[in-house]
Amino acid sequence: MSAQAKKESLIKIKNMSLEYGESINSTLALKNINLEINKGEFICVLGPSGCGKSSLLKCIAGYVKPSSGQVLMQGEEVDEPDWHRGVVFQSPTLYPWMTVNENVEFGPKMRNLPKAKIKEIREYFLDEVNLSGFGDNYTFELSGGMKQRVAIARVLANYPQVVLMDEPFGALDALTRENMQNLIRNIWEENNTTIFFITHDVDEALLLANRVVVMSKQPGEIIKIFDLDFTNQILAKGTKEVIYNDDYFKIKNEIMDIIHSQID
Ligand SMILES: Nc1ncnc2c1ncn2[C@@H]1O[C@H](COP(=O)(O)OP(=O)(O)O)[C@@H](O)[C@H]1O
Ligand SMILES: [Mg+2]
Repeated sequence: MSAQAKKESLIKIKNMSLEYGESINSTLALKNINLEINKGEFICVLGPSGCGKSSLLKCIAGYVKPSSGQVLMQGEEVDEPDWHRGVVFQSPTLYPWMTVNENVEFGPKMRNLPKAKIKEIREYFLDEVNLSGFGDNYTFELSGGMKQRVAIARVLANYPQVVLMDEPFGALDALTRENMQNLIRNIWEENNTTIFFITHDVDEALLLANRVVVMSKQPGEIIKIFDLDFTNQILAKGTKEVIYNDDYFKIKNEIMDIIHSQID
């Protein structure tokens, strides 16, 4: 991808640590995190439960302030949530009193875009998440996977600089999950979106990311970063046959070994 080849920096995390609480009751959640997110990247973060993955995402989103160090987006310190950084959680946070259309239009409406433009954006992203035709449904009428697709469309409708996803497919059944992985990979490719995606599923990370960040147990530090190409191979070939390659197997085992060494 051209944007990746240029490596235009979007977010810089510099010497960041995060401590919850004070004195004897404090928890050091993140320790000395340094990470750069470039435009157009699909970064997946892996690590044992409780290692600080969600905390890291919340710091990037601006929900939580680091105890030391900084998160910078295009050179400016992140100090509050902002629609330029869209967030998708494990359980979709939708407005149940609004239809699918109204949920997806919410951001563009808040930004006072012209009516025709709002409709165009809505239709485009509902199509991207395969929900054309469901616009007039209320979100409580939809399945879990469909709800999550509405949540993704709603975030994308803001054209955020980065989409932050915290185990977004964690609550879905295996088949729906696989469909969602294909969907987000295609959206990433077609829209050149920058995605920061947390998962505890090694295969999910390998099948989606062009960079995988592996974290230590608490306090979370970055142990190793892998540059990967599997997701591009899947896009190019239209099949997931890469998972049968020795390369895939080797990297998967290396990551599993790192994570297991953190749990034992
Ligand atoms: N609001 C909070 N107050 C106190 N401790 C917290 C809070 N949120 C998370 N923690 C602690 O910080 C550590 C990292 O949590 P979290 O970021 O949720 O990890 P992960 O997402 O990797 O499972 C854990 O020990 C957790 O108990
Ligand atoms: Mg978490």
